[in-house]
Amino acid sequence: MRSSRLVLPLVLFVFSALALGLVLFVVLGRPQGSGIGGPFTLTNQAGQKVTERVLESPGATLVFFGFTHCPDVCPTTLYEVTQLYQALGPKGDRLRTLFITVDPERDTPELLRDYISSFDPRIVGLTGSPEQTAAALKAYRGYARKVPLEGNNYTMDHTALVYLMDSKGRFIESFNLKRPPEQAAKELQNYL
Ligand code: NI
Repeated sequence: MRSSRLVLPLVLFVFSALALGLVLFVVLGRPQGSGIGGPFTLTNQAGQKVTERVLESPGATLVFFGFTHCPDVCPTTLYEVTQLYQALGPKGDRLRTLFITVDPERDTPELLRDYISSFDPRIVGLTGSPEQTAAALKAYRGYARKVPLEGNNYTMDHTALVYLMDSKGRFIESFNLKRPPEQAAKELQNYL
């Protein structure tokens, strides 16, 4: 008696769980179609043109946005990426890192070159016209906003995500650098 009365709720529960599972599978289980990433045309710290094609190479790419006058988040991220390269060893040569400025007014290729020379030499700094950097930011669905400071100065509020992209330039995940570099390196090995 009692067990037969439980059948219907149980069947409903199982079907709901399956339906939810299917929805989650469809929504989360596709690295493509995330809409993150896309075309850009920028200039690296050596003054050379770089496009999204640079992502299309064996291995993977980390992409993040920032600016050289950033007081804390950007230098910390660049330092964490540098430690990650050290933890990766020779395999790190298959990891590209693009640091794209959100402050093209101040971040000339020369300034970027000086700034990133303190970090791993495999990190590429990218700038361009305000339209070009805005287009790159939009392709990665990021945001940046100018925040006025005293004395005609300003800082930038910006997306702090680190995007992990695959060898076809498709978004894999937002990469977590807030952990021991060995742990981050271990996860990255799967893509290199
Ligand atoms: Ni920053």
